[in-house]
Amino acid sequence: MSEHLQNMRRHYQRDGLLEAHVPDEPFALLHAWLQQAIECEQAPVEANAMYLASVDAQGLPHCRVVLLKDLAADGLVFYSHYRSAKGCDFAANPQAAATFHWPGLERQVRVEGVVERVTAAESDRYYQSRPLLSRLACWASEQSQPLGSRAELEARLQQIQQQYADNPPERPEDWGGYRLLALRVEFWQGRPGRLHDRINYLKKESGWRRERLAP
Ligand SMILES: Cc1cc2nc3c(=O)[nH]c(=O)nc-3n(C[C@H](O)[C@H](O)[C@H](O)COP(=O)(O)O)c2cc1C
Repeated sequence: MSEHLQNMRRHYQRDGLLEAHVPDEPFALLHAWLQQAIECEQAPVEANAMYLASVDAQGLPHCRVVLLKDLAADGLVFYSHYRSAKGCDFAANPQAAATFHWPGLERQVRVEGVVERVTAAESDRYYQSRPLLSRLACWASEQSQPLGSRAELEARLQQIQQQYADNPPERPEDWGGYRLLALRVEFWQGRPGRLHDRINYLKKESGWRRERLAP
């Protein structure tokens, strides 16, 4: 296995990322790259999947995948349980990092910043747009808590389905959206010979500062 891993080496040659072609602020570029990733045949089906890292009260980092559900102004919106492990991390330390990897485009985007909850109205709107089973599953699952068995979870869902057979439930108070407000956004484009392009944006009081980073 180690030999196989050591010999896995992809030659990146699709594209470049030059200052002449990037905007003064990062979100227009992030929009464009996300759109291209969604359209790109080789990209994974879930182009909006991002690796989300949080840090707990002891300083230990935790990383998992969540889905980007809105990209607005300087913020990345995703939905989760507020009492999940990540929810507890954000309560103790409202900072996060998110990474997209779009292998079909040989691209990575890293976003770092501060996390806040979206408004209850915004969470309600998104919750109501979800399929019924997903809405009920929010009630059935205490995300990140230990479960005795799979059967326990299924029984809990069945009970919720019976309870709300006639009128589907409102959004649970402890489920909703977070917005990651970007303070740093870095675009990475793979290039031949590992001389990749990295364009980094840093949020300053006066606006975004742009710089090139060594690969
Ligand atoms: C493709 C994919 C998409 C996911 N999307 C979400 C999501 O949008 N929200 C969410 O809470 N968990 C999502 N998950 C599950 C999380 O990765 C994770 O298991 C869950 O949020 C619990 O994480 P925590 O215990 O660190 O809080 C997704 C997992 C995968 C693999």
